[in-house]
Amino acid sequence: MGNVICGTGMFVPDNVVTNEDLSRIMDTSDDWITTRTGVKERRFVDPGTGSSDLAVEAGRRAMTDAGIGPGDVGLLVTATMTPDHLAPGIAGPVQVGLGLGNVAAFDIRQQCSGFLYALDLADAMIASGRVEVAVVVGAEVHAGFQPWSRESWDAVLGRSMSVDQADYARNSRYRSWSVIFGDGAGALVMRRGEREDEGLLATSLHTDGTGFELIWVPGVGFKERPYVSHEQIDQDAHLPRMDGGSLFRSAVRAMPEAAREVAARAGVKIEEIDIVVAHQANDRILEGVRRQFELSPEKVPSNIGSYGNTTAATLPILYHELRETGRVGPGKLVCFAVFGAGAHYGAALYREPPGRRA
Ligand code: ACO
Repeated sequence: MGNVICGTGMFVPDNVVTNEDLSRIMDTSDDWITTRTGVKERRFVDPGTGSSDLAVEAGRRAMTDAGIGPGDVGLLVTATMTPDHLAPGIAGPVQVGLGLGNVAAFDIRQQCSGFLYALDLADAMIASGRVEVAVVVGAEVHAGFQPWSRESWDAVLGRSMSVDQADYARNSRYRSWSVIFGDGAGALVMRRGEREDEGLLATSLHTDGTGFELIWVPGVGFKERPYVSHEQIDQDAHLPRMDGGSLFRSAVRAMPEAAREVAARAGVKIEEIDIVVAHQANDRILEGVRRQFELSPEKVPSNIGSYGNTTAATLPILYHELRETGRVGPGKLVCFAVFGAGAHYGAALYREPPGRRA
């Protein structure tokens, strides 16, 4: 039986940062960011707010949407690459925040593909009969990754109009990835399905470990003693390194490949897919996916302009918005597709149950 999504929710922080705001603190422009990525603005949390806080809010909204209470939930899976602490992960605080009691709760660390991995695990746990209902959340707080000083943050948030030369130079050095990311969370509730021809029909998960360094954080890890040191921080080893071009090419290849695989497995043609809910890393990657499948922008929608790349949260945020606006509704065939750090990638095919509200 295909397990069914019966509720969704999202939550993004209030601070909106536009491309113009970023151009106050680094050598960039609205034109460059818009044409190269499609991002117009993104959200950032205030200090003291973690991915668990966003996850609780998104999870609560999904549970309300599903019409369920904490006692109905048997499993919580949280996907994040930006946990509140290095250890343990955010599943515990999110479980407490949602009032779930001592049900199984764990983190998935598959970055941009995290939500799909989490969904597949929840689906497998439900299919095996171990739980009836699962909450799956993707949440990220990338603000802490930004190399920006307090003065730069003040300028980005409009509290001042410029930064000194040293900050400007440092911020510009990291401009290729810092302009892409944003904070947010999305969640869904999955319950046991009743029919074979609806719900989650097929999933394919892949990892190309040779792409480990395409985007990664080289320092602050347990190969070092101690695992974090002043030296590492001075060398900016706690900041991400990204080979944008290689990621770009891999994403355009991998997402369609995984989508074809699930379509073949479920016995459907690509043309039968109503909508592709793809990871939101770059609008031009989405264009590449559209070109390969000859699908219109409506069929491979984008919301990257509003939120940037929210890593594990992009899929559930976009899916929630499409559901709220009625673009996914009864009987529609949805293809989820992801690619990201790891390099993990995959796809899933989902048939919306008939009769569900649009
Ligand atoms: N503003 C202005 N100029 C910039 C900026 C910026 N923000 N960033 C880079 N540039 C400059 C570069 O310095 C370079 O200048 P040069 O020609 O003088 O050397 C020029 O623009 C072109 O740089 P490229 O890196 O070739 O630009 P590209 O078109 O490849 O776009 C980008 C870069 C946006 C990063 C793109 O490669 C991309 O989106 N790749 C995929 C990234 C991705 O998927 N990341 C996340 C996946 S994993 C995860 O989410 C956890």
